Amino acid sequence: MSEKKFNVAVAGATGAVGNQMITCLEERNFPVKSIKLLASSRSVGRKLRFKGDLVEVEELKENSFRGVDIALFSAGGGISKKFAPIAAKDGCVVVDNSSAWRMDPEVPLVVPEVNPHAVAQYTNKGIIANPNCSTIQMVVSIDPIYRKCGIKRIVVSTYQAVSGTGKKAIDELFDQTRSMINFIDCTINVYPHRIAFNCLPHIDVFLDNGYTKEEMKMVDETRKILEDDNIGITATTVRVPVFFGHSESINIETRKHITANEVKSLLEKAPGIKVVDDPEKNIYPLAIDAAGQDLTLVGRIREDESIQNGINMWVVADNIRKGAATNTVQIAEILAKEYL
Ligand code: A2P
Repeated sequence: MSEKKFNVAVAGATGAVGNQMITCLEERNFPVKSIKLLASSRSVGRKLRFKGDLVEVEELKENSFRGVDIALFSAGGGISKKFAPIAAKDGCVVVDNSSAWRMDPEVPLVVPEVNPHAVAQYTNKGIIANPNCSTIQMVVSIDPIYRKCGIKRIVVSTYQAVSGTGKKAIDELFDQTRSMINFIDCTINVYPHRIAFNCLPHIDVFLDNGYTKEEMKMVDETRKILEDDNIGITATTVRVPVFFGHSESINIETRKHITANEVKSLLEKAPGIKVVDDPEKNIYPLAIDAAGQDLTLVGRIREDESIQNGINMWVVADNIRKGAATNTVQIAEILAKEYL
């Protein structure tokens, strides 16, 4: 019997994440019958490669989703807000990488290693949300600990790569770095300050409570994915001059005691995780090792000696792959295998 194949669209195909989505569909051998690549009118006529063929980019319009079974969106929140319901009305299931639908109670927010069962709720609106990049790698790494001994509180600080902001930020870090080492004045367009040779404790907009939207995404999305509103979570999110790969310092207060060695063996068996933890040999997770692959790297696993039940970890993943495109394609795989 031949495998069922799907008409797939990628909205935002020319962007950093959209482009990676196309690569992931290809690498993971997603059962694609046809592929439609959508972007703004600026990109019409550009050609992108899929499985050896050059596919022409089309302008994303209201009628773009007729006949499409699954659409992967990564063209910004405004586009998702407007076009995801239009696509769903045409019978297409949208897996959306923006923050537009994540906290809608009717829209499932899915990390396949953690809550694959939530995909079933796609029938509510025809939309499934992909979590924020920083949230994805955090929940992948804490879920095995959460299941084994419960979690009371999480304190997380992030060190996030510029690729999370998109192509223009990748170009800006490159241009600023080149200017700096040539003693030329830098141009600042994307962030409020220079990102080259700097750290910005500011990702997304500031909210009334003094936190940034990115920080509150980590709080709200983690609770939604783990289906537990009782976990205390506090986050500080920082943009650093790294191209690819988000790093996170995660401090967890567990409900039941667990040793660092027990955490290591739990995580060694967990899906989507690679334990990289041999500090005596200078082996720990690095952004340069996480970039270009799909596993969440966890290391520096140690007990927090300042409290009774505490664990510290350093967690790194490719923000464009597991933090965005790969997670979206993994969700589409569950849809394709189990629901469509
Ligand atoms: P385009 O390249 O035509 O501007 P990134 O986050 O890397 O900057 O990518 C954003 C993606 O969203 C790009 O593919 C971009 O297409 C797409 N996009 C931005 N604005 C629109 C729009 N108004 N309609 C459709 N696609 C859009």
